[in-house]
This record gives sequence, structure tokens and C-alpha cells, in this order.
Amino acid sequence: MENKVSISTLPYRFDELPKIFNELKECGADFAHCDIMDGQFVENKTYTPMMLQDIKGLMPLPLDVHLMVNDPLQYLSTLKGVAYYYTIHCECFKDMNILKDALVSIKKIGLKVGLAVDLQTDIENIFEVLNIVDLVLIMTVKAGAGGQKFSESALDKVKKLNLFKRNNNLFFEIEVDGGINDKTAKMCVNAGADIVVSGSFVSSSNDKKNTINSLKFDK
Ligand code: DX5
Ligand code: ZN
Repeated sequence: MENKVSISTLPYRFDELPKIFNELKECGADFAHCDIMDGQFVENKTYTPMMLQDIKGLMPLPLDVHLMVNDPLQYLSTLKGVAYYYTIHCECFKDMNILKDALVSIKKIGLKVGLAVDLQTDIENIFEVLNIVDLVLIMTVKAGAGGQKFSESALDKVKKLNLFKRNNNLFFEIEVDGGINDKTAKMCVNAGADIVVSGSFVSSSNDKKNTINSLKFDK
């Protein structure tokens, strides 16, 4: 089995997304990774989830929504039936019980729930809620901008998470995000990643099919 590739919407103009993602699907992309930033949780600001609602019918791939926002639950009704993965950052929650309730509320409306862990956060912090989630997103750069350098320290987290998953018979997917290219993708997949996110590596390529293919490996 091969890992999947989720392409970040960040490098592209919002009004071009449906056209571009139709092409990217033809080139082997598996998900559209929708990076949403509110200018508070991270400095940058992007399009809103309300705007995703408008183009949902035109997007050919499942939407892998990555919410880098302070209040990630406020978009639940907007993204119901729109998002495939609804991924929130664990750093938004001070208390494990509040985080647990948040994860359950996302599942309750029929969405797959993802939990993101920023670069500075210990992976062990989220072990106790892993029986609830469908996806863990490990940031391999500091969340907030595209085009940053992959941080090898995150590989250790992927390995620990994969080991915990196997030892506890859990089924969530492991996704990595930030600084992914053909070399770093290979390291992540070898460490246990199931989905790799790509922004600049694919957007800057003139041969998208080959480039996406270079991010896929046998697992
Ligand atoms: C960064 C975003 C990433 C970003 C990845 O905070 O979450 O999804 O678009 O871009 P690259 O692949 O350029 O690092
Ligand atoms: Zn992302």
C-alpha cells in the first residue's frame, strides 16, 4: 500500500482552486489540504471556512481542512458536509477534558476528526485522546506559513506515535505537514506517516504528475 498525498491550497489563488485541483487530481493527488489561518493563532490570515462552503461542489477531492485558528469549533455548522477531515490544534485547549469534548462534538456531526500537534508540542500530550481521533497531523515546521524547512526533530514524534498506535491497536491516520519534498516525504513514510501534505514542492513544479508521484512510497 502507498501513502497518500494531500495538496495544500496555500500557494494558490482562492478563485483558481477548483480548476487547479481538477488538474491535481488527474496528477494523483488524494486530498485538498485547506489551510485556514485566522491571524491570531498564527500571524497569517487566509480565506474563511464560509468561502470553502461556496466551492465545495466544485472541488473534485475530499477536503482535508487544517484549522490554524483560536476557536476551531466555531466552524462546525459551516463545515458540516463540506470537510472530510476537520483538524483542530491541541494547543487551542488548556484542558484535556475540553479537548476531548471538542473532538467528540466534531465526530457527532459526522465528520472525521483530526488533531494537529505543532512543532514545539510534545506528542505524549495527546496520547490519552487518541482513541477518539481519525487523524493526527504532525507539523514538521512551525504552523503558520508555507515554504519553511523541514524539521527532523518531528520524525521522532512520527515514530513514537506510530509505535503507540500499533501497541494499542488504534486506527487513526498519521499526516505530516511542512517542508515536504521527495526526500523528507520518504523519511516520514518510513517513520510511519500515511499522508504527506505538500505546498511549495508541488506548486513550484512544472511536472506535477511526476512530482506528486515522487511523494508516494510503498508502505
Ligand atoms: C503551514 C501549513 C502547510 C503549508 C505547507 O502552516 O499548514 O500546510 O501549506 O507548505 P510547504 O509544503 O511549502 O511547507
Ligand atoms: Zn497545513
